[in-house]
Amino acid sequence: MSSADRLELHHLDHDHAALGTALDELERNLGRLVTAEDFDHLDAIAHLIKHEVTQHFPREEALVATVLGEDSLLLRHIARDHDVLGAEARDFFDLAERIRTEVLVDRAEVVDAAAALLRGLRRHLRMEEAELVPALRARIDPPPPG
Ligand SMILES: [Fe+2]
Ligand SMILES: [Fe+2]
Repeated sequence: MSSADRLELHHLDHDHAALGTALDELERNLGRLVTAEDFDHLDAIAHLIKHEVTQHFPREEALVATVLGEDSLLLRHIARDHDVLGAEARDFFDLAERIRTEVLVDRAEVVDAAAALLRGLRRHLRMEEAELVPALRARIDPPPPG
């Protein structure tokens, strides 16, 4: 495997670690969304999700396609997850936009949508750390023979 793949895997590790930390922090503070004035927390969640959907997902899929193959089961599995999370993210962005434009939105609905999305991202991250990352590492950095 090429050193570019190794570098991409390193980047993916770094992104996953940052995502884990951000999820902890955002979930701990979900209650702040109940306060109508707290746009900062809403922005923080929206920013994280935007990074995941627009940067992390495509980059990850490209690495998996290169290392495990376009037809690999794992690629199909994560791409399906990315599609579902992407659709949920679009709904969340709509909701956030309605709040910003002062359309009356039930705060409980916002908290539920954010909580569900963060839970979905965490489930996805756990699956990738358990299945995807080891499979990539085994191909990129195989243990020495013997
Ligand atoms: Fe992913
Ligand atoms: Fe990932």
